Amino acid sequence: MFDVEEFARIAPDWSRRLHYHKELGSTNDEALRLCSSNPAEPLAVLTDFQTSGRGRRGAAWMSEPGGGLLFSVVIKPRYEKKYWSRLALASGLAISSVLREQYGLLAEVKWPNDVLIEARKCCGILVETQGDYAVIGVGLNVTGSPQGDESVSLSELTPRLGSRETLLAELLTALTNEVNDCADQFEQQVGRLRELCFLEGKQITFKANGKIFTGLAEGISDEGELMVNIDGQSISFLQAEEVRAV
Ligand code: BTN
Repeated sequence: MFDVEEFARIAPDWSRRLHYHKELGSTNDEALRLCSSNPAEPLAVLTDFQTSGRGRRGAAWMSEPGGGLLFSVVIKPRYEKKYWSRLALASGLAISSVLREQYGLLAEVKWPNDVLIEARKCCGILVETQGDYAVIGVGLNVTGSPQGDESVSLSELTPRLGSRETLLAELLTALTNEVNDCADQFEQQVGRLRELCFLEGKQITFKANGKIFTGLAEGISDEGELMVNIDGQSISFLQAEEVRAV
């Protein structure tokens, strides 16, 4: 179970902004509900277990009690909405950077919003919006990976994890810094994302605009799009679903 007192010791500023529940339906749902009351932000909603965790495209997000860090960050970006499509990438960058720098894990960003280690998913990100607020939901597998063979947990990969309270504090700080910067420092972020791009150089299939495409992932464009070589032509995609390396 998450130790709220320990978290308050490690991260007093964040602890005042943390809404912790032992169990919730979904932290994103609770965060969206909080947005209705025009809250001061950033704030975070955390739970040990979700009874109806949500993934992208309406999928369920499975978790084991206490096995993951399941949280949602509420922010009110100070920049124009045209930049909000960058939030997922900036969040993936933040999470991967913490896993690399603090824990020596070779985390990669799978465009547009997964974090992988050794080609297995350890973290999914679900960005939703309400009015002037954005909710960034993060499901990070810490000790369990109940999403199937293609998922992995951090504890399977490193003995030097430390406490969940410390990890959460590191993630919240990195995530809010990156999302704050993604309007005016995106060029620098894209440079770092290119170093961590899981898909680059891989043959992939994906769905975009209702159609299935196959091609060679060339990398991430200056705008954060995925550039794919399809039949000799380089095409950039801002959104795509079900991206798979084949
Ligand atoms: C995905 O990979 O499809 C995104 C998964 C996002 C899961 C997290 S867990 C915390 C937050 N609350 C939810 O209901 N979903 C996100």
